[in-house]
Amino acid sequence: MEASEAGRYWEGNAETWTRHVRAGRDVYRDALNSPAFLAMLPPIEGLQGLDIGCGEGANTRAVARLGARMQGIDIAPTFIRHAQSAEEAEPLGIAYRVADAAALPFEAGAFDFATAFMSLMDMPDPGRALAEARRVLKPGGFLQFSILHPCFMPPHRKVLRDAKGDAWAVEVGGYFGAVDGAVQQWHFETLSTEEKASSRPFQTPRFHRTLSQWVDALGQAGLAIERLVEPCASPELAAAEPIVADTRIVPLALIVRARPSACLDPPDPRP
Ligand SMILES: C[S@@+](CC[C@H](N)C(=O)[O-])C[C@H]1O[C@@H](n2cnc3c(N)ncnc32)[C@H](O)[C@@H]1O
Repeated sequence: MEASEAGRYWEGNAETWTRHVRAGRDVYRDALNSPAFLAMLPPIEGLQGLDIGCGEGANTRAVARLGARMQGIDIAPTFIRHAQSAEEAEPLGIAYRVADAAALPFEAGAFDFATAFMSLMDMPDPGRALAEARRVLKPGGFLQFSILHPCFMPPHRKVLRDAKGDAWAVEVGGYFGAVDGAVQQWHFETLSTEEKASSRPFQTPRFHRTLSQWVDALGQAGLAIERLVEPCASPELAAAEPIVADTRIVPLALIVRARPSACLDPPDPRP
C-alpha cells in the first residue's frame, strides 16, 4: 500500500476521530500513553520540535506547553484543519502543514528534536519516515516515538478475563505473520453500544512489524536507541480507568527515544 492510500483512510477517519478524542474517548492515549511519553522527554524548553503524524494536535499542544517551539505535520488535511482551529482558539505558536512523513518538507538539520505519537506504525514504510526524521534533526538531536507494542499488540490480541471480568492474561498470536495494509474496522472501546451503532467505524490500514524489524529500521536510518519505556498503569489508574488495567499484565505501547548514531559512538580512545 502507498502512503497516499493509507492517508486516504486516515482522512476518512479524521472527522469522527477528532470528535471522539476531544470527547475523551481515547483513554489509553490520555490517561496512560501520552503522560508516559511526556514524562520521558528530556528538557525541551526553547527547542525547535517537529511532531510527525500529529493528528488533531492534542499531543503537539502538550509538547508546546512544555516550552518547545513546535511544528506539526500529518498526511490527512482534515486533521490539520482541526489542529489549526485549536491553535487559533488557544495560540501556542504551533505551525501545522499537510505532509507525508516519508518526504518531510523541511531542510536537513531544521529541528532539535522530533516526536511521533502512535503514528509511525500506521505508515507503509516506517523506515523511510525514520530516515526522514533523522535527516531533519540537528546533530545531537533526538527522535522520540510511540508505537503499538510489536510483541504484545501483534495481529491477534485478546484480553482474557476471570469470572469477575478482571483481566488476568493476554493472548497474542500472528507475531511473525506479515500484515501489510489489511484494513481493520473498529471503534474506541469506550463508546456505548448506541454510540457504536450511530458512528462510522474507523477504517485503518494495519502494518505489523516485529521488534527486530523495528530495531533494524532504526539502525538503517542511522538512529541508535537511547531509552525505551513500556507504559504500565499504576494500581490507582487501573482502578479509576479499568479499560487500561490490561497494561498491568503486558504493555500495549512501546516508547522509544533514539539519536543519530554518531552521537552514541564511544569516544575514540586513541590519542
Ligand atoms: C493513531 S493516529 C495518532 C495521531 C496523533 N499523533 C495522536 O497521538 O493523537 C495516527 C496518525 O498518523 C497519521 N499518518 C498516517 N500516515 C502518515 C504519513 N505517511 N505521514 C504523516 N502522517 C501520517 C494519520 O493521519 C493519523 O493522524
